[in-house]
Amino acid sequence: MSDTASTAGKIQEYLDDNKLQPTLQVIINDLCKQLPSDAFGYLVNQLLPKCAPPQIDKLVGREVLDSRANPTVEVDVYAIVRDKSRLIARSAAPSGASTGSNEAMELRDGDNDRYMGKGVKRAVDNVNTILSPAVARANPTDLAAVDDLLCKADGTELKTKVGGNAITAASFAVAEAGAILLDLPLYKHLANVFYRGRDTPKTYRLPTPMVNILNGGKHAGGNLKIQEFMIMPNADLPFTEKLRYVTQVYHHLGKLLVSKYGVSAKNLGDEGGYAPPLDNADEALGMIEQAISAAGFTAGKDIFLALDCASSEFYKDGKYEIAPKKFLTGDELLNYYEKLVNDHPALRSIEDAFDEKDYEMWKKSMERLGDKIMLVGDDVFTTNTNLLSRGINEKWANALLLKVNQIGTISEAMNAARMMFEASGQVIVSHRSGETTNSVISDLAVATGARFIKTGAPARGERVCKYNRLLQIEEELINEGLLEK
Ligand code: PGA
Ligand code: ZN
Repeated sequence: MSDTASTAGKIQEYLDDNKLQPTLQVIINDLCKQLPSDAFGYLVNQLLPKCAPPQIDKLVGREVLDSRANPTVEVDVYAIVRDKSRLIARSAAPSGASTGSNEAMELRDGDNDRYMGKGVKRAVDNVNTILSPAVARANPTDLAAVDDLLCKADGTELKTKVGGNAITAASFAVAEAGAILLDLPLYKHLANVFYRGRDTPKTYRLPTPMVNILNGGKHAGGNLKIQEFMIMPNADLPFTEKLRYVTQVYHHLGKLLVSKYGVSAKNLGDEGGYAPPLDNADEALGMIEQAISAAGFTAGKDIFLALDCASSEFYKDGKYEIAPKKFLTGDELLNYYEKLVNDHPALRSIEDAFDEKDYEMWKKSMERLGDKIMLVGDDVFTTNTNLLSRGINEKWANALLLKVNQIGTISEAMNAARMMFEASGQVIVSHRSGETTNSVISDLAVATGARFIKTGAPARGERVCKYNRLLQIEEELINEGLLEK
């Protein structure tokens, strides 16, 4: 057989294998019936579902900065789409300051010549040399499968080989890429992942924001030991109104602080809340109550209060240093919280009231306060299902703070959310104090149906982008008739 004849044979075989001629014939017949205004657009739309599924080509890591001027890991996802590799999405990992000891390990270089040892070049290398080959050829729209590959590439529960920062950035970026490739908003894509493609709810709800308007502890520089003083708007309001209510209170609090303590009281802490020179929680809650009234709202009706004590940070040798040089036993601290709840009836949630290993006090606090308020486990659970299942059995808390980077991947964090929902507890999806301008957690909160989100003050770009994303989602859900009534 001549060369020309064999080439012609191969071409025919290729056309036959791909059923090109009959398929095109059908599409062109339809086109002729409909005569759409954009003929090529029509052809593309008909052919797109017949294309090969996308495949991850590679992940590319990069060292970028977070909101606290510390390096963090960013990951680009390249996928082969229609026979060509292209950049589909990118995202980055957040970073905490008051971290639980059971959190996934944040891999930092420890090279003091760069960023005071906080560089993440090794984690970036691990993205390029370990994670990228591990997920190559996987379908980026199957987040659960890709997250599984990421975990297997590390092989440790706390991600000590590759680094939790590398893995979270990769999981976030692949989630974004999957949504783009499926042409779905991220919250819908994540809802399908959360419900494993079965019984995905027909409607969605938006979370109530727990807005950190006054910063203490490690996020500020003063004497206030409790880390976060938050306000929560009435859960029945539309999200747009919730955001307006809390933002107006935030402005009034700023004004009040300036009038009482001078302009520097309006300086902001790491999460965008004010960091005034206050000494105790009672005073801080009192100022916030005044701000709520000044804004024309009623505490306990329009706006509620919440604390994140991050108490592991002031726990030492069995005592809690609730104010400088003022040490309390666990029982005394519980009495102190109970008094705060009685004196400030709008106070409805306390996070990390006790040290992450002081389980006896967690149990006692549930017995005393568990019916009245949310007792939220952050460092005590670290979004880890092993700790969470113990905590649920032993009744440590009635709410879970969910931070993806405490465990590694979005899929693992979703396992924790499912477990808490099954135990009839609340889930609060949370940012970290060191953030970037991605808003994955907003979509994640909507996807899982979490009733709360914690993402700082309504100020500073890395916080505001999460709130603004929720405004966008709300508008879209209303337009599509998909907002839960
Ligand atoms: P972190 O603080 O990100 O510094 O841990 C947030 C929190 O404790 O909830
Ligand atoms: Zn916390």
